[in-house]
Amino acid sequence: MIVKRKNMFFLSGKGFSYVIRISGEGYILHDYFGAQISPEPYCEEGRGWYCFQAAGEDGVCVDELRTEYPCYGHTDLGTPALMADRQPVLKYRSYEIISGKPAPKGLPSAVADGAETLVITAEDELLGVEVRLYYSVYTGEGALCRRTEITNLADAPLTLGAAYSASLAFSGSDYEEMHFAGSWGRERRPAFNTLTQGVYHIGNARGGSGHQINPFVIIKERGADEEHGDCYGFMLVYSGDHATEIEVDQRGRTRVHQGINPFGFRKTLVKGETFTSPECVLAYGCGLGSLSRAYHDFIRDKICRGEWSRRERPILINNWEATYMDFDEEKLMSIASLAAELGIELFVLDDGWFGKRDNDRRSLGDWVVNKSKIPSGIGGLAEKVNALGLKFGLWFEPEMVSPDSDLYRAHPDWAVRAQRSPALIRSQLVLDLTRPEVRKYVINAVCSMLDSANIEYVKWDMNRYITDMPREGFNYEYTLGLYEVMEAVTSSHPNVLFEGCSGGGGRFDAGILCYMPQIWTSDDTDPLERLYIQYGTSFGYPPLAMGSHVTESPNQHTGRRNSMDTRGAVSMSCNFGYELDITKLGMEDREEIKRQTALCRELRGLVAFGDFYRLLDPFSGNTGGWMSVEKDKSRAFVFVMRALFRPNSAPLRLRLKGLDPEARYRAGEAEYRGDMLMNRGIDIVFPFGDGASVRIMLKRI
Ligand code: GLA
Repeated sequence: MIVKRKNMFFLSGKGFSYVIRISGEGYILHDYFGAQISPEPYCEEGRGWYCFQAAGEDGVCVDELRTEYPCYGHTDLGTPALMADRQPVLKYRSYEIISGKPAPKGLPSAVADGAETLVITAEDELLGVEVRLYYSVYTGEGALCRRTEITNLADAPLTLGAAYSASLAFSGSDYEEMHFAGSWGRERRPAFNTLTQGVYHIGNARGGSGHQINPFVIIKERGADEEHGDCYGFMLVYSGDHATEIEVDQRGRTRVHQGINPFGFRKTLVKGETFTSPECVLAYGCGLGSLSRAYHDFIRDKICRGEWSRRERPILINNWEATYMDFDEEKLMSIASLAAELGIELFVLDDGWFGKRDNDRRSLGDWVVNKSKIPSGIGGLAEKVNALGLKFGLWFEPEMVSPDSDLYRAHPDWAVRAQRSPALIRSQLVLDLTRPEVRKYVINAVCSMLDSANIEYVKWDMNRYITDMPREGFNYEYTLGLYEVMEAVTSSHPNVLFEGCSGGGGRFDAGILCYMPQIWTSDDTDPLERLYIQYGTSFGYPPLAMGSHVTESPNQHTGRRNSMDTRGAVSMSCNFGYELDITKLGMEDREEIKRQTALCRELRGLVAFGDFYRLLDPFSGNTGGWMSVEKDKSRAFVFVMRALFRPNSAPLRLRLKGLDPEARYRAGEAEYRGDMLMNRGIDIVFPFGDGASVRIMLKRI
């Protein structure tokens, strides 16, 4: 809901309020963001008393105010949201409240359905700079979308160096910053900074949102935990270079900006031209758990779209770790037919099916089936797989080209390059998606393959960073090009389930989720590692967005051994699948897979659409765990895993969350009350061995 009272705007959604004040001088001030409050009666603005402050023409020092979109230069010398070659002083001009939500041109964003939007227009008349601030809220959602448009109204060009999507000014500084850091195989580990006076830059400038720093940041009251304390989330709906900049200023206040990383970004606007920032999804939660649940609901309801956003995902088998590129049709079919017997629903053919792709040094870009490996072609193979009762899916890496490929030989200039020979990563180059003819080629290559066969799932990979950027602002233009390609391919194939991927989870962000409702979480499939990766990822993203597969033991990335049971349990907490040569498994493991696929069918609706509660933090102990609770609290699924076996240890007293305290729940033969399970908890005795897990299924009686 959005209401205007005098000089104030009150915005609210599920459980939060956001208040903006227009000052007497016309500055757009941040007044409040947090737990829901009533608009009336409301208090006046307090201003401090300061020595040595700059005074602008109106006698005001903007540095001392908490503005909604700070600009650098005149009387505000703090870290700016907008940095341009003409430094505007923004004053309020007008507002509009719109039902729905205008989409940012060329960029992914949350859907308009159910939204209400406040647009505040601010201007610097002298310099001819107009800024429009967009705020969208939804009844029933605990998140708010913000974005910014900047228009040059003057004859002279306006060059932007920083143009963040959103800015938020907290009145205090007693906060901790939390972001999600990592690397290939170790994605999204919580990392923290206790904020003190200074500037913090949390970002990536690698072309994709990156393994290293995810575009999701939490600012939390010091000491806040899963259940307590003010927690504020900033999630960027963008897949390119991003940054969250935080400054604790000299007066002990905190400003946070999130948007495109200014490093390497530059955009010049001619008269009348507008820059549109990506969208930023802000959320408030009392405790990290409720913040995460607000994001999970929002991503499922408003970010993911299309048929698959509300559907349970098929249990898949992917041939990558089973065969790598060394396969033929017979081998693939032997895996697929056994998969069908074991209850698997989708067969995915990964890398190696096209051109002369027998190793990762060639053929990216040549999206033509290799008939010596697959004589029936993709269409024929899909038919055979379908005849087994399985859906068929295919891997692409559409943004790339191998120097050893027909595409590169025909168009060497289509690869991204600066002055020198471009750097190779995994022996491949990036296609220049800023060029319309390259986008056209890529769209056509993927779409014609999808139209030629019954392909019901696509894994869209991107296995390198962008280097050798030919100009400033290139990565931003590339990202816009990528979105145009993704929009064209996904909107023309609404029935296909798309899964994003980037060397594992290197482009796990809300931008991709607008096109592809699930993302491969990490190449690291060791269940113990996955405990950490999935736990970290869950702070911002729901299980329904994450892919997780059972792979071989010992694990190919870590050498660790784990039981089929534990591997299954960890993966079943997300979109479930297998990625190993099941034809090599003994009868016992095959029977276990049958049990797992049956259990997954029973559980996946709950895991996908239920409320997620983190129970035990594996980063701060030897045990990690979480649970999913059906929205109506009728069922719950609990998962806990102990990293290292410790002889002679006491049972774990585990308190559950999110249940109906008054209800009785059945777990196997036993019956418990919700209040007992949540307050006293249950005693868990782990089986013998490292990485052992325990699962509990609760059903309300
Ligand atoms: C990336 C992906 C893997 C696999 C390979 C294929 O590494 O993350 O899952 O698809 O590419 O080359």
